[in-house]
Amino acid sequence: MQLISTIAELRARLSDEHASAFVPTMGNLHEGHLNLMRLAREHGSCVVASIFVNPLQFGPTEDFDKYPRTLEADCARLQGLADIVFAPAVSEMYPVKQTVFVEPPPIANELCGASRPGHFRGMATVVLKLLNIVQPRVALFGKKDYQQLHIIRQMVLQMNLPVRIVGGETVRAADGLALSSRNQYLSLEERGKAVFLYQTLQEAQKAILQGERDFERLEKQAVEALQANGWAVDYVAVRNQSDLQSAGTVQGNPVQYELVIMAAARLGNTRLLDNVEVCLAD
Ligand code: PAF
Repeated sequence: MQLISTIAELRARLSDEHASAFVPTMGNLHEGHLNLMRLAREHGSCVVASIFVNPLQFGPTEDFDKYPRTLEADCARLQGLADIVFAPAVSEMYPVKQTVFVEPPPIANELCGASRPGHFRGMATVVLKLLNIVQPRVALFGKKDYQQLHIIRQMVLQMNLPVRIVGGETVRAADGLALSSRNQYLSLEERGKAVFLYQTLQEAQKAILQGERDFERLEKQAVEALQANGWAVDYVAVRNQSDLQSAGTVQGNPVQYELVIMAAARLGNTRLLDNVEVCLAD
């Protein structure tokens, strides 16, 4: 495995790789990332991972400074899984002040975008830069960040980028909590309670599968259940998988049959995200 920190060296190394599979990350790798690397191996002969904590996608009061940077441990975990690790400095990715940005679709202002203004613009901009640098055949992203994956798919589609996007399933701890680098911010007591977010989504999923079609009522019940257990809720939303618009019904039947229940909520100072898909078609 090769560790590369400059764009020039990476481009030279990749110049005769025609089937690379790329997993962009911000490092502090956990089993969810490693799972994406294993999936990447099925899609390309050369697996490239990037590790870059992108300042553009953090708000001024967010955790950019304290975001865990663990390059050495990450490289150890990537041995045997990635062929190349691209870990550029901020000055390599942004040698001049970035004044050109990807303008993400309007959905970027809803859900996570409502409480993280500018986040998806910064995320989409760095992902476009990384795709241009690596030029992979396939790029892989986790479904835990469902809205991020949707926005990347739209960017690739609408900007005619020659890359296939693959979503990897969410990897969970034994109790069901979705793995995330931010889980380590949780105190021991909070960690014990954190799985309640997933359990609440599973309850909502069960209700829909059993015939509940009043999605607004379901969202409200989920928010109240979380609040009653000490969570500060950003949103719980039942959306269409295809466009992330609110799931609707006509005469009691869902307009779309492939739904996703998405949530973001804070436990203490830690903001956690999760989602579950619901397919109503047989
Ligand atoms: O999901 C992440 O880790 C980041 O948002 C990404 C896609 C690597 C862009 O910085």
